[in-house]
Amino acid sequence: MSEKTLVHNQWSSRMAFMLAAIGSAVGLGNIWKFPYITGEYGGGAFVLVYLVCILMIGMPVMMAEILLGRRGRRSPINTMRELAATAGASRLWGVVGWGGVVTGFLILSFYSVVAGWALAYVIEGVAGAFKGLDGESAGALFGELTASPGRLVFWHSVFMLMTTVVVANGVRSGLERLVTWLMPLLFVLLAVLVGYAMAAGDFSHGVHFLFDIDFSRVFTVCDEAGQCRFTAEPSLVAMGHAFFTLSLGMGAIMVYGSYMPHDASIAGSTVMIAVADTLVALMAGLAIFPLVFANGLEPAAGPGLVFVSLPIAFGAMPGGQLFGTLFFVLLVFAAWSSSISLVEPAVAWLTENRDLPRARAAWLVGGLAWLLGIGSALSFNLWSGEKYQLFGKTLFDIKDFLATNIMLPLGGLAIALFTGWAVGRRLPEGELAMRSPVLFGAWRFTVRYISPAGIVLIFLNAIGLV
Ligand code: TRP
Repeated sequence: MSEKTLVHNQWSSRMAFMLAAIGSAVGLGNIWKFPYITGEYGGGAFVLVYLVCILMIGMPVMMAEILLGRRGRRSPINTMRELAATAGASRLWGVVGWGGVVTGFLILSFYSVVAGWALAYVIEGVAGAFKGLDGESAGALFGELTASPGRLVFWHSVFMLMTTVVVANGVRSGLERLVTWLMPLLFVLLAVLVGYAMAAGDFSHGVHFLFDIDFSRVFTVCDEAGQCRFTAEPSLVAMGHAFFTLSLGMGAIMVYGSYMPHDASIAGSTVMIAVADTLVALMAGLAIFPLVFANGLEPAAGPGLVFVSLPIAFGAMPGGQLFGTLFFVLLVFAAWSSSISLVEPAVAWLTENRDLPRARAAWLVGGLAWLLGIGSALSFNLWSGEKYQLFGKTLFDIKDFLATNIMLPLGGLAIALFTGWAVGRRLPEGELAMRSPVLFGAWRFTVRYISPAGIVLIFLNAIGLV
């Protein structure tokens, strides 16, 4: 092989990894979820806890997940089993892979419903439905969509079909190459929206809300009536979101790590992925909150926040019909390149261990997630009543809470402990191949002590023990 082809191959597989990982990380979590939970949990202090979790838990665990994937080169279940066997540790570590498969199903089953909202809003954009919206009419437009079980199930089905077709045909690289152009475009559009929010929104109120740190808010949650209660929930949610937004804790990044060539830097890639992901989320916040305050909307409005605030802006700005449509198209693509990573661990395992052809595995997994997702869609209408709730949460909220705030951090804890304690020092040292022994030492210390202790502390805090 000539040197030229060699270089090219290396470049493209390194690029393939970065595209897949950024495509997986940047999604509804950044643009839909981050603003809405930040609004719900009171702003600045929540953002700070989230950023600390990204840095002290998310990034070290991401390095661990990538290095395990690159060493194992198989589905997460088999990677965990094999690496455990090689290290002389218990095969029970395979449970981490299984937990990841279940978590992926749970997340996809509500993710797809929200991606369906974005699809429905593409059509609203084309039809000019954003024209002249104010706070109330924008709320009504969103309310009409979520009140209709038929429309929600329809769009959820369309999105699940899109995801399954890509996974079944193994044309992920095609989608990811497309995303190379679309993600920067999404970024530019977000910048335009931040500019618009500066000009037309209450920008300083938005900035203060996002960045002023009021520590009392980390431990209180207030309802619409202004009743506040003491709770550790915000830090649990901030930690859960750090895992969610970076696609960590369930094996998605582990699978993608197996694309990575040996000479690519895991630490460098991790920094790039985390920075890109965090920037997109902060920009979404900077675009949305000034509009929320200028239009008399409630920051704690819940999952509809983005779908109510941004259309008001699109309805008022010049060229808004085009921008609005384009924005939701790009959001759909961002969600699409994320959702395929949610099914990948399950599909990879089915093809490896059950000898299923890729297409059959994808349809099996997609079908099951579709079925589960119907419950999430009905949570907004037919099953929204108290009769169908548990602890005041709908099925949609329960799945999100359980998967994001419990299962992902548990998966992350196991991955940190496995990499930090069970496989010894040589394996991570060789895979990370960091030039600076000090940095490697700092990473190893973090993954052995700081990340696990942080996760456990936040869990204990949440159940009221610390
Ligand atoms: N990170 C994606 C987002 O922010 C969602 C996602 C994709 C995900 N794959 C994942 C979350 C794996 C947790 C685990 O939209």
